[in-house]
Amino acid sequence: MYQDCFAPCPDIYLLNHSVGRMPLGAEASLREHFLAPWEQGDPEPWPLWLESIARFQAGLGRLFNSAAENFCPQTNISSALGKVIGGLPPRRGRDVILFCEHDFPSVGFVLQQAERLGFQTRMIPAREDAQQLAVWDSALGPDVHSVLLTHAHFNSGKLIPVEEITRLARAREIFSIVDIAQSAGVIPIDLVQWQADVVLGSCVKWLCGGPGAGFLWLEAETAARLAPLDVGWFSHSAPFEFDINHFEYADGSARFWGGTPSILPYVVAGHALDLASRIGVATVRQHNIALTQKIVSKVDPACLRAPADPALRSGTLVLALPDQDTVVARLREARVRFDVRPLGLRLSPHIYNTPEEIDTVVECLNGGGQ
Ligand SMILES: Cc1ncc(COP(=O)(O)O)c(C=O)c1O
Repeated sequence: MYQDCFAPCPDIYLLNHSVGRMPLGAEASLREHFLAPWEQGDPEPWPLWLESIARFQAGLGRLFNSAAENFCPQTNISSALGKVIGGLPPRRGRDVILFCEHDFPSVGFVLQQAERLGFQTRMIPAREDAQQLAVWDSALGPDVHSVLLTHAHFNSGKLIPVEEITRLARAREIFSIVDIAQSAGVIPIDLVQWQADVVLGSCVKWLCGGPGAGFLWLEAETAARLAPLDVGWFSHSAPFEFDINHFEYADGSARFWGGTPSILPYVVAGHALDLASRIGVATVRQHNIALTQKIVSKVDPACLRAPADPALRSGTLVLALPDQDTVVARLREARVRFDVRPLGLRLSPHIYNTPEEIDTVVECLNGGGQ
């Protein structure tokens, strides 16, 4: 029934790990909250534009169980991560930033730049199973300053036990940063429960909020320990002071904001977040599991590259098939939208996908198809 809430797609769209479908009403929302105030309203549209930012933050707060002001708008995860890394306080004897070879490459590229700030980087190699707490237990050594955790790995569909790892990190005074690009909107997340130091996300995938509406979450006490290099007048405690000789960080997450913010992506995303709240992430997840399990139950278990247990799997099913080229051709013929990454085919059903669509996918995987 939620299919009617999104732009219709003539194909079987399973690319939600990449870009979610546009919610209906996005254009009207853009007109109402961005274009109309600029075109016809008060000659100064900023108060209304900033209301759109507040709506975006409130939407995130509702979804992730945290106060709206803990979310700072960001263009994307990579740039938000760069700002966090540039703001980390140095600590004697601890200079390692730990991450995983299975993290999204863009995130690794950013972390490698931290070496210019005097950090060293260390990767948990791809052969190790990042779902095992023991792997993190031995990797989070006394020289680790900060750790980057990717909640849902983009290439394997593995869900990482974030809550347990952040607990370990806290006990060892290691700063934790979590990337929720692949889980936001499909896996229920409670930021109070996680108690990570920083969480980075975007709205382009399962949240269906379009590109450019990233966010950086952190609580005021954590923000007080960080001094970002990358700032602007919206990072100032008094943005309208206009004294070039005086800069004072804003309290809380806003210190990561920067210069004049864009507005348009957050209007689009704010509309999508309202819809995500109405549907509920738990409902999306339930539907996603029902559809992915339909595939899992019909393919050779040896083909599965994502975990078979849905509790350990993100919204994405990954399959490596012996006759991949033939299957790919059949899926394309049946107008299934999916992609292929080093570990296999990625298939990610959202709330708007139907069991009948999945029947077609299964037929293609098993030799039938249209
Ligand atoms: C795990 C993960 N992190 C981050 C990103 C994207 O980062 P950015 O917002 O900087 O483009 C992706 C994109 O697919 C991803 O899968």
